[in-house]
Amino acid sequence: MYVCLCNGVTDRQIRSCVAEGAGTMKDLRECLGVGTRCGRCAPFAKSLLKEAAPAAPQAFELSAAG
Ligand code: FES
Repeated sequence: MYVCLCNGVTDRQIRSCVAEGAGTMKDLRECLGVGTRCGRCAPFAKSLLKEAAPAAPQAFELSAAG
């Protein structure tokens, strides 16, 4: 299924990118170009990212320790 129509990126490509180590939207942008044009795909790409890498630490959880 296409997730990012602007760049022709599928959910399989996103899962594959996560399996290769992508853990953030920035990684997905660099890896596949997801969200670099209209941005409509970003919310769904984020949910796929969470689903594919549920154990990945979230950066915002670390920021409050200060
Ligand atoms: Fe992904 Fe437009 S659908 S940037």
